[in-house]
Amino acid sequence: MKTFLTIFSMFLLVSCGDDNPGNQPDTTTLPEPVVESAGNTPVLYAEFNTSITIRDVMNTFIDPSADALWQAVRFEMDATGAHEVVPETEEEWEALRKHAISIIEGANALMIPGRHVAAPGSTTEFPAYEYLPEEVEAKLAEDRLSWLGFAQSLQTSAFSVMGAINARDVTRLGETGGLVDQACENCHSQYWYRTESL
Ligand code: HEC
Repeated sequence: MKTFLTIFSMFLLVSCGDDNPGNQPDTTTLPEPVVESAGNTPVLYAEFNTSITIRDVMNTFIDPSADALWQAVRFEMDATGAHEVVPETEEEWEALRKHAISIIEGANALMIPGRHVAAPGSTTEFPAYEYLPEEVEAKLAEDRLSWLGFAQSLQTSAFSVMGAINARDVTRLGETGGLVDQACENCHSQYWYRTESL
């Protein structure tokens, strides 16, 4: 009985300890759960919170990490001429590995259904050249399979970068960075750029 009371009062402490309800997701704004079936295995997408938009995933996980990978091998000019800058320390390589992971997991986030493209009412900086978020959503609803393919090829390219990082291979790091760029552009040219205006 004493043990029970101790556990019970610990539970009370824990449950009352959170005086910041702002930490809880606002369930009223979450998208409807989607339950699909992959072969015999039901996939419960309801387990994922998809309230973060595709735009935010781009700007948080994918774009900054791709920039860091592309910047890892570069030329810099100073008074004595051009110098190639490459990763040297273990810390620098480890930071690059984390960027590759951000892209790989960011691509997973892109594959979870139910995510909006951008916050309601958002537009785009260059509407003559870029689809509006609602147009991207219509494209996604029409052809989700290509979307998954593009997200997976981004993932595959980031795994190639990871291989170069693990091997501490500067030449391969430069080459595989190009594969990542190609994977971004392949998806953008289908889902983001107005190819008819090019
Ligand atoms: C699976 C498809 C897909 C892949 C792969 C992809 N993107 Fe995107 N990206 C999009 C879509 C769709 C948008 C437009 C969303 C919007 O309206 O902001 C976008 C928008 C962006 C934006 C603009 C965000 C803003 O604030 O408007 C940036 C930056 C970006 N992507 C960078 C990248 C980079 C860098 C890569 C590759 C490392 C990449 N994306 C790979 C689909 C993709």
